[in-house]
Amino acid sequence: MQEQISKIKEMTLQKIQEAKDSKLLNDVKVQILGKKGELTQVLRGMGALSPEERPKIGELVNNVRNEIESKIKEKEEEFKAKELQQKLEKETIDITLPSTKIKRGSKHPVNRVIEEIEDLFVSMGYDVVSGPELETDEFCFERLNLPKGHPARDMQDSFYITEEYLLRTQTSAVQARTMLAKGGKEPIRMICAGKTYRREDDATHSHQFGQVEGLVIDKKDKNVSLADLKGTLEVFVKKLIGKNCELRFRPSYFPFTEPSYEVDVSCFKCGGKGCNLCKQTGWIEVLGAGIVHPNVLKMNGYNPEEYGGFAFGTGLERLAMFKYGITDMRYLYTNDVRFLRQFDRKDEE
Ligand code: DAH
Repeated sequence: MQEQISKIKEMTLQKIQEAKDSKLLNDVKVQILGKKGELTQVLRGMGALSPEERPKIGELVNNVRNEIESKIKEKEEEFKAKELQQKLEKETIDITLPSTKIKRGSKHPVNRVIEEIEDLFVSMGYDVVSGPELETDEFCFERLNLPKGHPARDMQDSFYITEEYLLRTQTSAVQARTMLAKGGKEPIRMICAGKTYRREDDATHSHQFGQVEGLVIDKKDKNVSLADLKGTLEVFVKKLIGKNCELRFRPSYFPFTEPSYEVDVSCFKCGGKGCNLCKQTGWIEVLGAGIVHPNVLKMNGYNPEEYGGFAFGTGLERLAMFKYGITDMRYLYTNDVRFLRQFDRKDEE
């Protein structure tokens, strides 16, 4: 019997050695150690042995079994490592292949205009400031000389969130915040661009649009005058839109400035001759402006006897339309990449 066992052992070890893959290895396992396997049969035949021989043979069989099992395991591990190696070799990435191109978006024309305006005014010594889009009635209206019930509030149909809070209808709201922050003492030169909201929606108005606001305050003896306002706006418009465009000041009314003006720019499409865009007038209204009202100064901590200045505000979409010759404002909102791509600049990549 011992002889039989050692024969099985030798034969098995050789088969393990020769096994070419894990399937053949498993066959060997079943053939020897399985329920009907050769070594299992030997164990079964042990009943015929004498009581002295039984433990000896039992031990021998167990040792052989252990040895076979560990060899099989060893071989299995070898196969696994080989498989992994083959997989790694097969799956290597070919870095010489061209990659799939990522489509980059482009800067929105309105954002381009904001950046350009900010750069221009920073070069003239202005600070760039910002304010909240969810604003209080106090800062959006009251501190700008528009008390509750003031008829001029009708010009700005608003989205109220509560009685006190609304989506700001104008960036002018930032004027009061800036004046208060300066404590009524320091001179101010600021520019503020951002989103504004009004409850209106038709072909030429949107419920959300952009504005940019400018405010200059200084001591009375510095004499910040209407001539300065005019000069500043001329530099602004000519630099942004084109050196040939003309400006026209018309008297108007805003509660936060006195005197107040509406500023028109000669039509970019017809050059002032008259066309459908400018409604045959040759002019398009772009800005509101004026000399800061003494009440506004007073309410926000500045003494109107000592300080004075000017303010202006304008719509960003209009400026973008002028600058790029866009004839329909809705293109700016539909986010059609074919439209937006036209404003890409290679020098910014
Ligand atoms: N906020 C005004 C509007 O939305 C525009 C404006 C007019 C702003 C005169 C000003 C200003 O700062 O002085 O219609």
